[in-house]
This record gives sequence, C-alpha cells and structure tokens, in this order.
Amino acid sequence: MAEALRIGIAGLGTVGASVARVLRDKAAELTRQCGRDIVVTAVSARDPKRDRGVDLGSAKWFDDPVMLAEKADIDVFVELIGGDDGPAWSSVKAALEAGRHVVTANKALLAKHGVALAEIAERKGVLLNYEAAVAGGIPVIKTMREAMAGNQVTRVFGILNGTCNYILTRMEAEGISFDACLKDAQRLGYAEADPTFDIEGHDTAHKLSILTSLAFGTKIAASDIYLEGISNITQADIRAAAELGYRIKLLGVAQRTDSGIEQRVHPTMVPTASVIAQVHGVTNAVAIETDILGELLLSGPGAGGNATASAVVGDIADIAKSRPGFQHGPVFGWPAKELKPYKKAQMRSHAGGYFIRLTVHDRIGVFAAIAKRMADNDISLESIVQQAAGAETEAQKTVILVTHETTEAAVRKAVDGITKDGHLTDKPQVIRIERAE
Ligand SMILES: NC(=O)c1ccc[n+]([C@@H]2O[C@H](COP(=O)([O-])OP(=O)(O)OC[C@H]3O[C@@H](n4cnc5c(N)ncnc54)[C@H](OP(=O)(O)O)[C@@H]3O)[C@@H](O)[C@H]2O)c1
Repeated sequence: MAEALRIGIAGLGTVGASVARVLRDKAAELTRQCGRDIVVTAVSARDPKRDRGVDLGSAKWFDDPVMLAEKADIDVFVELIGGDDGPAWSSVKAALEAGRHVVTANKALLAKHGVALAEIAERKGVLLNYEAAVAGGIPVIKTMREAMAGNQVTRVFGILNGTCNYILTRMEAEGISFDACLKDAQRLGYAEADPTFDIEGHDTAHKLSILTSLAFGTKIAASDIYLEGISNITQADIRAAAELGYRIKLLGVAQRTDSGIEQRVHPTMVPTASVIAQVHGVTNAVAIETDILGELLLSGPGAGGNATASAVVGDIADIAKSRPGFQHGPVFGWPAKELKPYKKAQMRSHAGGYFIRLTVHDRIGVFAAIAKRMADNDISLESIVQQAAGAETEAQKTVILVTHETTEAAVRKAVDGITKDGHLTDKPQVIRIERAE
C-alpha cells in the first residue's frame, strides 16, 4: 500500500471539526477507496483548549497556520479558517509555495485571490481543490471542471445562499414580512447576527465569480458583479408573483452575451413550474446550460458542517488517489495563465422579461400614462393589471406590469418617466424574470 497521506487542518470550527470527524469515522472506507491511509498529523486554530468534539489524537498543534503550512510534516494543507485575506491567504499561499496540495472551502479567498493562487499551484505542480467553496456539498466544481469537458457553457445560474432562500421560502409559505423572517432565521441559526453579507448578495457574488471563471475561462472578477439583495422584497411582490405563475428567488446568474459576460445577483422571478422554483429552504441549486448537454440542475445541501465536510473530504480523497503526472488538470479548468480577461456586459443592455409593481394615485389617466411610457420605450407588455385587492388605501392603487423581452435600459427609462410624471405614491419595484426549465 502507498504511504499514508498526511493532512494538516487549519481552522477547527463548524467545518474543520466536521472534516476531522469524518476522516476519523470513515477511515476504513477511505483507505479502501484511495489505496492508502489518510491521517491528520497537524492542526491549527486560535484556542488550543477548546473542545472540538473530536479526538485529534496525536496531531501536532500549531498556533500559527502559516507555520503549519510551511513546516509541518504534511502532504495536504486544508484551510478552513475563512476570510479573504489574513491567515487564510497567507497560509494557503505559503502551503502552495512550499509545494503542498491545498484544499479550501473559502469562497471569499478564491473570489479575491483565486487566479494568483491557481498560478502558484500550477507552477508548483500541486493541486488546489475547492469543491466546498461553492454550494457546499453539491459537487458543482467537479462537474464543471471534469465532467463537462468539450461543452461550451452558455449560462450558469443558481440559488447559492441558503439564508436568502430560507427567508424567501418562509415569506411565501407563511405570508410573513422580510424583517420577521430574518429575525426568526437569526434565532434558529440560519442567519448571522450581521446578515448583510448574505442578504445583500455578496456571498452569492463570491460563489458566482468562481462559477463564471469555470464556465467561460475568464479571470475571476468578483467586484464586477451587478448586485441587488432581497431586503426590499415585500409580501406584495411575493403575492403578485404567485398570481402570475412565478416564484421569487435570489439567483446568481452568469451568461454569455454578444457584448461580453453578464454577472448578476438579484431577486429573480422564475416560473413556478420550473425545477429551480422547487428548491426550498436552505437548499442550494446550480443550473448549467451547455451546447452539448442542454440544461443540468444540481441541487442539495449548500452549507452545514457535514455537507461541507463531505465536499472537503472528497477533495482530500482525490489528492490521495492522484499520482504525480496523473492529476485532474488546471485549477479553473483552463491553465491559470491562459484565463482570458473578463469582458463585462453592461447591465443596461441586459435583455429579458420584467415584473414592475407600481403604487399610484387613484386618478383618471394614470393607467393610460403608464402604458404610454412603456410604448414610448418600445416595451411590449405581456400583461398590465390594476389590482383591486391589495391596494393600500382608497386614494392609491397597485398596477402590475409584466413585459415581454426588453432591455434594462428601456425599463429604467420608462420607470424614470413614470416617476417624473408624478403618479407614484411609493418607490417602484422592478424584478427581472429569468427563463428556466
Ligand atoms: N459553515 C458552513 O456551512 C460553510 C459552508 C461552506 C463553506 N464554508 C467555509 O468554510 C470556512 C470555515 O467556515 P466555518 O463555518 O467552519 O468557520 P468557523 O466555525 O468560524 O471556524 C473558523 C475556524 O478558524 C479558526 N481560526 C480563526 N482565526 C485563526 C487564526 N488566525 N489562526 C488559526 N485558526 C484560526 C477558528 O479558531 P477557534 O475555533 O479557536 O476560534 C475556528 O476554528 C470558511 O471559509 C467558510 O466560508 C463554511
């Protein structure tokens, strides 16, 4: 049997402790599958006294993860600290420079430094595996990087943040407000004390930026993503969506267009009958559209100790099975030095259907004025309805418009015009509609 693969784990929190536990509990199966033992020989965290709920046996303790990365007797450095800089960045870089394979679950780190780290890994001939960084336990990286060779991806989109999907699911199922839902999600541990990063779409954007690079062979461009969170979604939107045959989801979407690549994260209406609309609660899903395969949808647990550990252990097992000269290819599917610069498509040229909800003064002529603004901007309407129920007061009414395919620029111009006309009593709501099977 080959020599044991020696693992160093930096970060022993939710994911790190779960990884240590799975490696211990599944040792016999992993040895049979990989043809060698996998042994944790070194660990690092902040507090050496904290009970991690798993016996770390004879693993050597390091206060400093960089020292572990550089000096420990390990073959693989597993980074489960988190954060886009600081100890995660310096230790992963040090491990790769020292010629050690790296496994990480850290999307923030890859969104910021992924290309630089991939260049080091490829230069050193070591593996940088990061399955758990996108959609937790769902094997989307492997699928895109290895199982779809030869396919040209046209669009990749998904529900990549369990907190947002949990909130939107409960808002729809129970008719409660965003704020009430968020408070409950925090109480139940599904949302952070400071939820901004999740609900404003930043976490989804980090994951999307990695998928974009894999899909289109471009450099990661996480700061070039159009971003809108879910905090302004109301019960009125959710009810109107349901009446029209749609469900609202926070999607990350990357799409090839004639003018470049669109990367956008925003609340999106998807047809209620589509597969992605059936993804509820904290579950994640990723849809990949390609020229050869058509549309593939992967769904499953996107977070949590065990689900994330499953992906991390899968990455470790791949390294245990790999032999020099027989590895799974470049980190982002294409050699890092050949990744193309990211050419951003302007959001204003995004084309698609739109849902527009307007709260207007209940006056004669308002309906006609709205229709005229739409026509003036060449927007063809699938429907325009004045809601009898749901209107907030006697003096105001709700008007819901659904457009056929048009551009973001046209919609913004039309809505600006309606706002200037002075008919609105509240902020207009615009939600993009996404085609989904
Ligand atoms: N949790 C999930 O469901 C999930 C899902 C997918 C991906 N991820 C990713 O997995 C990574 C870890 O997440 P987590 O939820 O496990 O985080 P966590 O529970 O907060 O654990 C972080 C660990 O890092 C250690 N740490 C912090 N600063 C350190 C330093 N300077 N030196 C050494 N160790 C240090 C902490 O030590 P102490 O314990 O001593 O404080 C802790 O053990 C993140 O990149 C996250 O984005 C998490």
